Amino acid sequence: MKKLNIGMIGYKFMGKAHSHAYRDLPLFFPKHIHPHMKVICGRSLESVADAASQFGWDEYTTDWREMLTRDDIDLIDINAPSDVHKEIAIEAAKAGKHVFCEKPLALTLADSREMLEAVEAAGVKHMVGFNYRFTPAVMLAKKLIDEGRLGDIYHFRAWFLQDWIIDPDFPLVWRLQKEIAGSGSHGDLGAHLIDMAHYLIGDITDVIGMSETFIKERPLPQEMTGLSATGSQSKEKGPVTVDDATLFLAKFANGAIGSFEATRFATGHRSTNSFEINGSKGSVIFDFERMNELQVYFVEDKEDVQGFRRVLATDAAHAYSDVWWPAGHTIGYEHTFIHSVVELMEAFQEERQPVPNFKDGVKCQQVLEAVEHSIEQKKWIKVTDL
Ligand SMILES: NC(=O)c1ccc[n+]([C@@H]2O[C@H](COP(=O)([O-])OP(=O)(O)OC[C@H]3O[C@@H](n4cnc5c(N)ncnc54)[C@H](O)[C@@H]3O)[C@@H](O)[C@H]2O)c1
Repeated sequence: MKKLNIGMIGYKFMGKAHSHAYRDLPLFFPKHIHPHMKVICGRSLESVADAASQFGWDEYTTDWREMLTRDDIDLIDINAPSDVHKEIAIEAAKAGKHVFCEKPLALTLADSREMLEAVEAAGVKHMVGFNYRFTPAVMLAKKLIDEGRLGDIYHFRAWFLQDWIIDPDFPLVWRLQKEIAGSGSHGDLGAHLIDMAHYLIGDITDVIGMSETFIKERPLPQEMTGLSATGSQSKEKGPVTVDDATLFLAKFANGAIGSFEATRFATGHRSTNSFEINGSKGSVIFDFERMNELQVYFVEDKEDVQGFRRVLATDAAHAYSDVWWPAGHTIGYEHTFIHSVVELMEAFQEERQPVPNFKDGVKCQQVLEAVEHSIEQKKWIKVTDL
């Protein structure tokens, strides 16, 4: 296989990020299978036509089902809001298409399990959009942990802080509606933290959480894209049906313990996606807004130079450094999507499933739902009971 024909649904925030990844991949990874940007789908003919021309897609359509009937589409890439992931992914799998789906995989654990069953029954490749795994700093943290250089892990402490809805008049976008988003900051931001914990530390066994919705109703929106919207002046209001902030504690199968905080009400924090890991031999600190850098501390350093130091993960020793720029020339948010697509293409070349895939999506959903149960029941919940 020299190229993979893509049919993509959604052309706004994630649609643009994925389109950019498909376009850039051949420039930097010429030996990989090339994604071919065949058809893009959206609900408005005029807008999807504009997106197709701007992003570089061959064709556009307003009917995703029509894409599934075409023999010249190999993979369906789902970048629409979370309420439509399940139907599209299952139908795509039934049509024999490989599926790349944005996170959270579904609105519920049951739905995500149905999606996993469908892709496994169809024998197609499946991937989920946990792109932060592919930042230089996180890839370095993973290497240090896998090589035992942090020793036994005691703590995983993670926080994803944003403030884009701090204004009570910010409109009621789809991310604030449970029937479309599944949950609020929990499924949006917390999902990334949970995936990071699974990736770096291992299985989460028990959780206990709390959540809050600070602003209970908001003006109805007019236009919305990603994290921006118009309609603040709308007189008509609707209820916010998701959490504004969710916090939880967790126990891991390997004995480590964790704390997680996801909020859209952290004034001044645009997108502080961070974690700290403490092990018997050392610690690391990650901050997405400085995604090329990892703070590291090693117990075995000589006493007179002990302390956290900043490692710029762009040297020859670091993942993907050979394809990007000379050492010290950093990469950005969009590269996390390029790396995701590189992993997807390598999975085809190596005849294996890409990672992270729907199994990771289901595992994440299991923890999301366990936290919700613990909040309702005000007690610790065993994740494996779900
Ligand atoms: N990996 C990440 O970091 C990340 C970041 C943002 C969003 N996401 C996820 O990506 C998905 C999309 O989010 P977004 O921010 O791009 O949303 P968005 O609102 O910016 O764009 C959604 C797109 O989906 C299209 N759409 C909406 N309903 C549709 C339907 N029924 N059928 C076909 N197309 C439809 C819209 O026209 C639009 O093009 C969500 O699941 C979200 O959770 C992931």
